[in-house]
Order: sequence, then structure tokens, then C-alpha cells
Amino acid sequence: MKTTMKSDRPNPLARLSFTLSSFFFVVFLYIWFSINEVQFAALRKLGQSAVSNFQYQTVEKPLVEKATASPPDIRVLLGILTLPDQYQRRHFLRLIYGTQSTLGAQVDVKFVFCNLTKEDQRVLVALEIMRYNDIIILNCKENMNKGKTYTYFSSLPEIFDDPEGPNPPYHYVMKGDDDAYFRLANLVESLRPLPREDLYYGYVIPCPSMDPFKNYMSGMGYLISWDIVEWIRTSEIPRNHTEGPEDKVFGDWIREGHRAKNRYNAKWSMYNYPTPPTQCTHELWPDTIAVHLLKDQEKWIKTLKYFNVTNDLPPSKLYHIP
Ligand SMILES: *[C@@H]1O[C@H](CO)[C@@H](O)[C@H](O)[C@H]1NC(C)=O
Ligand SMILES: *[C@@H]1O[C@H](CO)[C@@H](O)[C@H](O)[C@H]1NC(C)=O
Ligand SMILES: *[C@@H]1O[C@H](CO)[C@@H](O)[C@H](O)[C@H]1NC(C)=O
Repeated sequence: MKTTMKSDRPNPLARLSFTLSSFFFVVFLYIWFSINEVQFAALRKLGQSAVSNFQYQTVEKPLVEKATASPPDIRVLLGILTLPDQYQRRHFLRLIYGTQSTLGAQVDVKFVFCNLTKEDQRVLVALEIMRYNDIIILNCKENMNKGKTYTYFSSLPEIFDDPEGPNPPYHYVMKGDDDAYFRLANLVESLRPLPREDLYYGYVIPCPSMDPFKNYMSGMGYLISWDIVEWIRTSEIPRNHTEGPEDKVFGDWIREGHRAKNRYNAKWSMYNYPTPPTQCTHELWPDTIAVHLLKDQEKWIKTLKYFNVTNDLPPSKLYHIP
């Protein structure tokens, strides 16, 4: 009875409730899809940024200005020669360089050492690379004055050979000490007007000298253009002469090879820390590109305070630093 009646003449109430539930079902579907689409999009974005974070190792800089979107006009590789076991030093220097502005230039700070030799290094250095991707391990045995500098420069063209990447990969390559403090914005500013070819830049030795065409640049940090890097890779002059005090030997290559018609003496923007005073020291002053011989924490802290490195710390309810 009932069924016949239903099929013949549907109950108006049932019809209304069917219409209403269909309506709500459609609304529900719509909402469900839009929420999920947002989530999918967000997930996709997250995935992409995770990937790009790994590839380009852009470590998040939450409290300091982000690099501008336009492509960098200058690309600099700052290779800091150090030893595998210097974990604390690397973490400290990441803090120092990760909070600096580079005025829209690309300055890649990388730590450079020879083959690992211990089991713990294979774990810890690999983890560092996964997190920061800022380490270059050269094919050499750690050494002093036995050609690490040669291995560094001569390995770079192959390491950075990438047909899809910019050419040259870097305009300039620097070799820096791990007890030097580089102010990257000032470095970039000093480079902008300089030639991009056949350049040898640094703090000329001996300390009182102001003539970059004599002798060589101090190991605290010197920079060459990419064409000289390629010359080091292919020329017999450096290859036949890798042993001896590394930075002096470097100057010998340049002289013997008649390279670097362009030179730039960055003294007194680069100097040794004021104490103890020598002919190589200078007071801390605003026009600084590098301070060398920061041999202890106190010297680092005095230097960092002098350059107001924490001035950009924004106020927050999360902390109070007087
Ligand atoms: C460095 O390590 C690589 C890979 O393990 C090895 O092939 C090479 O011979 C090592 N080089 C030196 C100088 O020990
Ligand atoms: C480098 O050494 C090789 C082999 O000893 C020699 O034949 C060559 O002339 C040397 N080149 C230079 C530029 O000194
Ligand atoms: C650091 O900040 C102080 C106070 O604002 C200022 O007088 C000084 O010139 C700054 N130093 C440098 C190196 O910019």
C-alpha cells in the first residue's frame, strides 16, 4: 500500500527533504573540494620550497632582509679553507654570514677541505651538507703548504661546470681564512666598479706596501676573476709549482704567468685586528671589508659589536635583549 502510494504520488514532505539533503550534499562537496584544493596547493608549494631549499640551500633568513628577486649582477664564491673537524667554527661562521646582506649580489660562502679521514666525519659532515649544502670536499689529503690552494682553485671549473647554469659560474672566486670576518656588502660594493677579468684583489704583502704589482696578496683573503681560475686549471706554471707557503706561491704563479694586469689593493679596508699592534693592524673603522686574526671569542665579539650586527633585530614579545 504505502509503497504504491509513494511511487505513484510522492509525499511532498519527503520530496522537500530529498531536495534539501541533495542541496546540502552539493554544498558539502563544494566546500570539501575547495578546502582540499587549497591544501593540495599548499602541499605542492611546500614540496617545491622543500626541494628548492635543498637544491639552492637558501637557509631561511627570518629576521633579516631577503635577497631581491632580480638576478644578481655579481656572483662571488667565498671559499673558506678549513678542516673537517672544525664543526663549531663552521656553525659560528654560518651565523656570521647568514645574517649579512649582500646588496643583491650572490655571495656563496662555502667551506673547503680535503678528504674525510674518520668515521664520525662521514656522518657529521654528511648531515651538515644535507642541512646547509655549503661544503666542498677536494680530492686531496689535508696539508699545509703542499698544494691545497692549488687543488682548490684548479678543481673549481669542473666542480661548477654546468651547461645550464650562468657563465661563468662565478665572476670572482675568493679564498678566505676561517679567522677573518668579511663584511659582504662592503666587499660587493668594492667589486662593482672593478674589471671582471684578469683581476687579483686583496691585502698586499708586506704590510706597509701599497703596491699590488709587487709581491702577493695576504692569505687572510684574496680574490681572483674566473679567467684566472681557469688559467690555474690548465697552465703548467701552477701545476709544476704547488709546494711552499701557499699564498706566496700563488703570487709566484701570477708573476711567472704574467697574469693579473688588473690588481686592487684593498688595504686599509682589509687589515689585522688592532691588538696586538703591528705594521699590519688597523683600528676598527666603518670602511671595512675584512678583519683578520680574530683568534678568540673576545676579539670576535668586539668586532661584531663595533659593526652593530644585531641592530636589525626586531622587537618581539618572544625575547628581551637589553
Ligand atoms: C680522496 O677520496 C676519493 C674518494 O674516496 C679517492 O678516490 C681519492 O683517491 C682520495 N684522494 C686522496 C688524495 O687521498
Ligand atoms: C713543467 O714540468 C714539465 C715536466 O717536468 C716540463 O716538461 C715543463 O717544461 C714544465 N713547464 C713549466 C712551464 O715549467
Ligand atoms: C653603530 O651604531 C652607532 C649608534 O647608532 C653609530 O654611532 C655607529 O656609527 C655605528 N657603527 C658603524 C660601524 O656603523
